[in-house]
Amino acid sequence: MTEKIALITGANKGLGYETAAQLGRRGVTVLVGARSAERGEKAAASLCDEGIDASHVPLDVTDEDSVAAAARRVESAHGRLDILVNNAGIAMGDGDGNTSSLTVATARQVFETNVLGVVSVTNAFLPLIRRSEAGRIVMVSSEVGSIATMLRTDTPEPIPALQPGAYGASKSALNALTVSYAKEFRDSSIKVNAVTPGYTATDINGHQGWRTVEQGAAVLVEMALIGPDGPTGAFRHDGTIEFLDSDGAVPW
Ligand SMILES: NC(=O)c1ccc[n+]([C@@H]2O[C@H](COP(=O)([O-])OP(=O)(O)OC[C@H]3O[C@@H](n4cnc5c(N)ncnc54)[C@H](OP(=O)(O)O)[C@@H]3O)[C@@H](O)[C@H]2O)c1
Repeated sequence: MTEKIALITGANKGLGYETAAQLGRRGVTVLVGARSAERGEKAAASLCDEGIDASHVPLDVTDEDSVAAAARRVESAHGRLDILVNNAGIAMGDGDGNTSSLTVATARQVFETNVLGVVSVTNAFLPLIRRSEAGRIVMVSSEVGSIATMLRTDTPEPIPALQPGAYGASKSALNALTVSYAKEFRDSSIKVNAVTPGYTATDINGHQGWRTVEQGAAVLVEMALIGPDGPTGAFRHDGTIEFLDSDGAVPW
């Protein structure tokens, strides 16, 4: 197997786009998962302009027909998938932002994308990932999904007062799914890990994050490219988030 093939969901902008760019620069063929044809084609064209082997795969993670069509498209074009980065995500709240103001409709939308979308995409692509010599699945979680971190009072602002809400709960659920998949595949060559990019300046937070997309995407890329001795069932950061362990471990 000469080159790796990676699908990144929500790769038309933000951390997903940067991950596609960093993987592409390392010689990986990148499939730009994006729900908007216009945004997806534009992102793929911009990566191609850099000399990266990139193409758009239409993919709305909340639409099972779209997910199934994407898997068929990748199967007919490439026959397998080596790397899946479950990156697409949304963050929403209601009213004053307190959890007591959260509507079920909002919570459902967040879980549909951040949790059920991951199950849908992962399970649809697993037959293709099983055909890889060394499949890698990266779950893009958050320290907001780390219950241990959310209970700390000694972290930098805005974390101490931050309520995890639907977003944090969805990422905690994603962490649980990561462990579940990792246990299922522990006797295979497939590795499944959760990562947090740290608080990164993107549209999801109105560019309030204190890290750049280049910094944030680094751990997504690192976990996408781990070798046979790399971890599975782990929750990692890039080792530079100062209130987390410098060895890269994030508490669950
Ligand atoms: N930025 C941070 O501080 C931070 C910290 C921890 C974790 N994360 C996680 O990192 C991931 C990427 O977020 P980001 O910061 O790069 O935010 P972003 O710039 O808002 O990008 C989110 C991406 O997800 C896509 N998306 C949303 N719903 C989708 C759907 N139903 N189907 C397909 N794609 C969908 C968006 O596509 P459209 O353009 O079509 O909306 C966009 O490409 C998320 O999972 C987020 O939770 C971010």
